[in-house]
Amino acid sequence: MNKQKMMEKAQRMVSGVINLPTIPAIATRVASLLDNPDVEVEEVAELILTDQVMATRVIKIVNSPLFKPMHEISSLKRALIYLGLHRIREIALTCSIIKAFEGKDGAFDIKTFWQHSFGVGTVSRIIAQRVRYPEVEKAYICGIIHDIGEVFLSNYMQKEFNKIVELIKGTSHCFVDAEALWLGTTHCEIGHCLAKKWNFPNDYCEVIALHHEPAKATLDPMLVAIVNLADLFCSVRHLDYGGREWVSFNLAEEKSWNILQNYSPKLASMDVERFCFELDERVPEIQDLVDSLFEGLAK
Ligand SMILES: [Fe+2]
Ligand SMILES: [Fe+2]
Repeated sequence: MNKQKMMEKAQRMVSGVINLPTIPAIATRVASLLDNPDVEVEEVAELILTDQVMATRVIKIVNSPLFKPMHEISSLKRALIYLGLHRIREIALTCSIIKAFEGKDGAFDIKTFWQHSFGVGTVSRIIAQRVRYPEVEKAYICGIIHDIGEVFLSNYMQKEFNKIVELIKGTSHCFVDAEALWLGTTHCEIGHCLAKKWNFPNDYCEVIALHHEPAKATLDPMLVAIVNLADLFCSVRHLDYGGREWVSFNLAEEKSWNILQNYSPKLASMDVERFCFELDERVPEIQDLVDSLFEGLAK
């Protein structure tokens, strides 16, 4: 299908929604505060504390098994020191995205969706470390936001999207193909439009647009390949959404695996089975984290 036409369709869909969520100003303010190399932790803590939901979520994330503190951290300032200021920008953005979309009835269970997203984020981080990608945190956040277009479809195109969910339930078809067929566009183009609207950096936009076609990436092919691979791993390890049938994949045949091998030749000798086992161990941690982030919310 013509990419240009798919992009135009996505743009029409996105601009047709009047009350499109915005990324709360606080995430942008945290990001610009952190652009100052002399920023003090107190200043950042003070700003985040103006948004209690975000402050609570930062504390939940820091205490989750993903960051493994020795003792429970209950103050925001200590959480910021523990995480390091470079991570706060990403966490503030993640919390804002969750917040932007919560409280709406969508076509699929939003908690399962975020479990997939945090799963892909966590696995992206692990792969990034393995291949010595220089910006591990960026890989994590791009993993979390890669499917953001699906939330839009689930919330704002419910009727059409329900049909797609029904069509692929119990089959091995993926959303992206069914969407192209039934909607004339996919969550990749829609996510790309949202990311541009929210002024996400260009390399984030590229991951969202091309995470199912990693060979087309030009800005940061390694980053797109990392997220693509993490997405595949999560799909076969039941960190997926939409009730699709279990799918399998052959690593050696994946384009993203070849792309990563070009950057990190050592990958060829990686014990894939052991890697999958490591990943399995992280699944309950990710489910716990998402459970705690959504505690007290209806969905
Ligand atoms: Fe996707
Ligand atoms: Fe995905």
